[in-house]
Amino acid sequence: MQEAINRQINRELYSAYFYLSMSVYFESEKLKGFANWMRMQAREETGHAMRLFSYMAERGGRIIMQDIEAPPIEWDSARDVFEHTLKHEKKVTEMINNLMGIAKSENDIEAQKAIEWFVNEQAEEEETAEKILNDIKERGLQEIDKELAERK
Ligand SMILES: [Fe+2]
Ligand SMILES: [Fe+2]
Repeated sequence: MQEAINRQINRELYSAYFYLSMSVYFESEKLKGFANWMRMQAREETGHAMRLFSYMAERGGRIIMQDIEAPPIEWDSARDVFEHTLKHEKKVTEMINNLMGIAKSENDIEAQKAIEWFVNEQAEEEETAEKILNDIKERGLQEIDKELAERK
């Protein structure tokens, strides 16, 4: 369980890195609202890592910091970015479900409670990515960019 949570902490930090890289891409495309949204998303992912970090600390687990994989740095379009975002979040959902499976097999109730929060969060993450992707397909980028600039 400890090993699996350690791995998840690393992947949440990777997620932050991944979205920061997307933010850089949007800056270069002069889509400031999208860039802002991605910066906020990265902050949220750091929050996820810290949530697991605190959980481990509370339970006296040993956290082992490992290399954080380098994210991609180029995309073809805003649509391409959000297709990758959705794909990434689906993969994370799989990881969280896997984590829950381990917690259940080890009969670790505390871990199950902690992971439950992430199960709900992932449903939201997928929904949000899907919504923005659909918006990109149907509406003008500049209009969406204005809306995404408002995320705090
Ligand atoms: Fe996350
Ligand atoms: Fe996420």
